[in-house]
Formats: sequence, C-alpha cells, structure tokens
Amino acid sequence: MIPRRSDLSGHWSLDENTVFLNHGSFGATPIAVMEEQQRLRERLESDPVLFVERISRDLWWESILAISEFINAEPDGMTFVTNATAGVNTVLRSLVLNEGDEILVPNHAYQACWNAIDYVTSRSGAKTVVVDIPFRVESEDEVVNLILDAVTENTVLALIDTVTSPTGLRMPFEKLVRDLQHRGVDVLLDAAHGPGIVPIDVSDLRPAYITGNCHKWICTPKGSAFLHIREDRKKFIKPLNISHGFSSDGSTQEKFRFEFDWPGTQDPTPWLCIPFALEYLGGLVEGGWPEIMEKNRNLAIRGREILCEALETTPPTPESMISSLAAVEFPWDGEVTAPGMDGDPIHNLLYDEFGIQVPVMAWTHHGTKYIRISAQLYNHEDEYIYLGESLKKILDR
Ligand SMILES: Cc1ncc(COP(=O)(O)O)c(C=O)c1O
Repeated sequence: MIPRRSDLSGHWSLDENTVFLNHGSFGATPIAVMEEQQRLRERLESDPVLFVERISRDLWWESILAISEFINAEPDGMTFVTNATAGVNTVLRSLVLNEGDEILVPNHAYQACWNAIDYVTSRSGAKTVVVDIPFRVESEDEVVNLILDAVTENTVLALIDTVTSPTGLRMPFEKLVRDLQHRGVDVLLDAAHGPGIVPIDVSDLRPAYITGNCHKWICTPKGSAFLHIREDRKKFIKPLNISHGFSSDGSTQEKFRFEFDWPGTQDPTPWLCIPFALEYLGGLVEGGWPEIMEKNRNLAIRGREILCEALETTPPTPESMISSLAAVEFPWDGEVTAPGMDGDPIHNLLYDEFGIQVPVMAWTHHGTKYIRISAQLYNHEDEYIYLGESLKKILDR
C-alpha cells in the first residue's frame, strides 16, 4: 500500500499513486502557485504589448527585489535566466580565457555544468582541473582542503556547488568562497539546489557569480532561475543571447538591465511568480522559511538513517553536510556506466513495481551508484520507511 504524505501535501497536485521522493530533480509546484501563473498569463494575453511594455516591467522588478532580499543580494547585480545551466553557461562563455588558465571543478559537480567548463577550456587552450573528492568524508575541512590544494597560480575560477547533485552534499561553500577568493580565484557558485534549502547571504560572501534555481526548492513554475554578478565583474559578462541591449546607449547599469532583461520574446511568468511563491510557501509553516529548511533537513536526515539501515550501511558524511537532499551508495556489483536514455534499471524498478519516484544515479567519476532522497513539506517519514522496505525486497531477490 502506498504510504501517506504529510498533512501539507494537499497544497501540491502530485499523483496520489506515487511516492514522490525526488523533489530535487525538477521541484514540484504547488497548486496555488500554478494558479498565480495562470492569472499572470491571462493578464499577459489580454494585451501582450501592454503587458510586456509596462506591466511586466514593474512585476519583473518586484521579482528581482524578492529574490535579492531572500538571498541578501544587491538587486542591481541580479538578473533572471531560465535555469542554472544557463546561468553557468552565461558566465563561462563570457570569460576570456588564456592558454594555461585553469578552472577548478570538484568531481561531484553537475555533469552539464562540468561539460560547459570543458567546452570553454578546450576552445581556448585553458585547462579543466578536476578535484577528486571521495563520497565518504569525515569532515567539511577534508573537502575544503582538497579543493584549496588544487589551486595553482594559474587558477582563475572555481565552480562550487551549494549542494551537489549526484551526491546530495551540502558543500562548505561559505568557507570555500572566502578562501578561494582570498587566494585570487573567482568563484562561480552553483546554487541550483540552494535557495530554500540552505541560507545564502550573497552580500556577505561576495562570490564573483552566483546562479540558482527558483524552480527547485522555492517551487516556482519551471524555467525560473537567477544569476547575480558582482559589481566589478559585470563588464566581463554578456547574456547568452546578444539582443537589443548590446547597441543601446546608457549607463553601465542601464545597459546591464537592458541586455540581460530582454534576451528576446519569452514567457516571463515563471519569474513573476517568485514573490508569490516565496510568500505562499513561507506561510505554510509558522516559522516561515527557516522552519521549512529545518523541517526538510531533519526529514532528510531521518530518511538517510532509514536508507542506511535498509542498505546495511552507515551514514557516509557528517550531518552538517545534509540539507534537504541525502544520498547513500547503492550496492552494485556490475559495471557503473554513464546513464543511457532509458534510465537506471533500479530507478525504473522502484517506480514500475513500487510506485517510488527516486533517483538512482550511476556516477562514473566515483565508480558508484547513488540513491538520493529529497525531503519537501509534502513528504512523510512513512514514505522513506516504504522505500527502505522496497529496497530490501529488491536486494533479497
Ligand atoms: C548542482 C546543479 N547544477 C545545475 C543543475 C541544473 O539545473 P537546471 O536543470 O535547472 O539548469 C542542477 C540540477 O539538478 C544541479 O543539481
């Protein structure tokens, strides 16, 4: 029998027959936020010109202010992109790299972003330097030291995740940003899994660049992400789409707004839902966002314990490295190869036979398969217990 979800699950329209333990991949948007998007779309279509020329400009700015306030960033450096992949590409493809320059990437990084690094380094004679970090670590310092040890006089940039994708690790990103930038290495903070699961203070940390998704943990409609560029780096970065703003006159700031905010015709409603989503989700629990983060983290930690018990293993990392995601090694004797289009067989089995939506990821860089759980307000401990029981049945076969 499918286990229950939490009492808050009625705010989402998730399939009742699925145990949804993968908020991390694409988020899940509450019904009220989808309704807000529909209202905005109806306004847009009642006069698209008026909406684009006037109405959306004010709403856009409100969204810029809302996400800036949420992560304490300077609104003048904030712009929107469709997803974190685009944010990472925007920065990387703008940089002028010289032969021999090095870009650091830990081997837990999201493969798409790692690929973007390989693309820009290979076309310029620069070098991708991969920092090997094991999955099982004793402390955050172990991670920090491995990354700092890889810095050389040629290192120009490091891609640091707030929370890693395949391994669900909350990185000690605050320390990494400070220490790397102190050594003259710019940090591109990949906060695809950031806002809504870890507190972020951009004005305090001052990363050269940070991009993050709203469509994951802030639960906005898909296609809603941001890119913040520090003031002194703005002149080096252009949007992926060169559009009208390129030939416009005006101050640097006016040009920044025009160039980044008008990449061509697009549906702005995913971004325009940010203020509503922040307020709506924050209002679901008494303690607002800090409580959401704490609740989800506690549930992820509990879920990881259940998973470890089922898989007869121990927690691989300290709890300080857990946010709303947690991964554990999946016992696998076979070869660990890059995932094909058909999806991982264990993932498929869990879904097809047990109705569980949970990622099982073959991470070739570690030669390991990971099973990764997410915890969002709609989840309940019983769902992880059901996952554990289902895994035992699979392993007993
Ligand atoms: C660390 C990291 N970076 C980037 C991304 C890409 O996000 P998107 O598909 O929204 O571009 C993900 C997605 O899960 C991620 O986990």
